[in-house]
Amino acid sequence: MKFQAITGNFAEAGADALAVAVFKGEKPTEGILQKLDKITGGLVAPVFKADEFKGDVGETALIRFAPKGKVTASRLLLVGVGKKDDYKPHMVSSVSGTATRFLRKRNIKGFALLARSSAANAVEEVQHAVQGFITSQYELDKYKTRDKNKKAVKTLVVCVDGAEPADVKLGIARGRAIGESMNFTRDLSNEPPNILTPTEMANRAKAIADETGLKFEALNEAKMAELGMGSLLSVSIGSEQPAKLIVLKYTPENSTGKKGELLALVGKGVTFDTGGISLKPGEGMDAMKYDMTGGGTVMGTMRAIALLKPSVPVIGIIAAVENMPDGKASRPSDVVTASNGKTIEILNTDAEGRLILADAVAYAEKQGATRIVDMATLTGAVIIALGDVNTGIMGNDQALVDEIIACGKEVGEGYWQLPLGVEYSKMIKSDIADIKNIGPRGKAGTIMGAVFIQEFVDKAKWAHLDIAGTAWCDSVKGHQAKGPTGVAIRTLLQLVEKSQ
Ligand code: BES
Ligand code: ZN
Ligand code: ZN
Repeated sequence: MKFQAITGNFAEAGADALAVAVFKGEKPTEGILQKLDKITGGLVAPVFKADEFKGDVGETALIRFAPKGKVTASRLLLVGVGKKDDYKPHMVSSVSGTATRFLRKRNIKGFALLARSSAANAVEEVQHAVQGFITSQYELDKYKTRDKNKKAVKTLVVCVDGAEPADVKLGIARGRAIGESMNFTRDLSNEPPNILTPTEMANRAKAIADETGLKFEALNEAKMAELGMGSLLSVSIGSEQPAKLIVLKYTPENSTGKKGELLALVGKGVTFDTGGISLKPGEGMDAMKYDMTGGGTVMGTMRAIALLKPSVPVIGIIAAVENMPDGKASRPSDVVTASNGKTIEILNTDAEGRLILADAVAYAEKQGATRIVDMATLTGAVIIALGDVNTGIMGNDQALVDEIIACGKEVGEGYWQLPLGVEYSKMIKSDIADIKNIGPRGKAGTIMGAVFIQEFVDKAKWAHLDIAGTAWCDSVKGHQAKGPTGVAIRTLLQLVEKSQ
């Protein structure tokens, strides 16, 4: 892939095609559209006259024209971005992605983009454009030996008025780091579970550590047993695949954050969730290969952090296990003890995510974490509540929850808070142990997962992201293939960079 930026005339960028963001209600008799109408020999105005294109978000119109003079392009793509006042800088990534996918289908190899955002600086605009270019071309065809998508857009020319070359360079590097890390996470989620075992997850984490300079460690089952992680190990006990607690550490060269502060990102990495003895129905069980996406998200975010080099330390912890039924597997009614000493009555072995996160968040705090954000495809209930539009967020510290929601808004990712509190915590009290791993049937399913994890957080500020609905998209979008979305990575990067 090649990225360039120009500050001069967009139409003379020297690419095969031009793509331009168009606001709703914009007239072809004014400004840039008028210029483009002239360049195309009057082909822009009729598109508007015929109501073929209005500038709604995601709308596209392709105009073919005869190149003349310094203009080498022969196609102009209009991409709607909605009302000018509602056009946020982060939307450049979907504009860039929509244009990329549209032109790729038509076998075009390169284009120049005029995104027209109100980004505060060129770094931001170029970053979003490059990230959208990279993430939009992601496909699910790794294991296909035929019918592979062979088309690719190779060159993006971003047009930014008055940009400094250094800013452009930085924007490209940042966009690349973020886009490629999102695709890395999406690749992990797509991997079949016979290939992506907990051990393989640890191998991939080691590979990104070697590539980027993160510190890597993977605790084996013996070590976890020594640390008393009876909750996590109760999930992996039924599997032939040994569990791994993967740790990736980022330490900045010069730290500017508050002294003693450490952010931990903790992810659920269930490489396959059969439900265990509380076996899931066969239909749709295949989807449970993406039950490691919380862990994959932590890995992708840590990779991007290592490349972006913020000035605050971050630790990533991934609890990687497989949940299988077996002669040795945990049974509903088993009681286990977690590493913080609490006893848990396992009433449903399919509520396994919270069991592994319990020991993982406790471990994060033992490592010195003062803020913990955990992420998990934890409950089917969050899909019922919020669909694939918003990630469910809950936490013990309103300021941290608010900060994450605000970061999400800045990058275009939606979060919706659900409440916690003693009334909910009471619902997981067990008759025979300290707590049980499920609440009453049909009641506050997503919150039950969160209040369970909360029992393993001591003094740290903590937020829990239930990404079961948002981590996967069932249908192809203009700017994105169907399948794993790479959700939350951009929000978390924003959170990290804002705490510098
Ligand atoms: N991995 C599932 C949650 C899930 C369901 C994610 C559907 C994505 C799509 C989780 O381990 C689970 O099975 N949760 C149970 C909890 C219940 C037993 C309390 C659920 O949501 O049904
Ligand atoms: Zn489950
Ligand atoms: Zn699960």
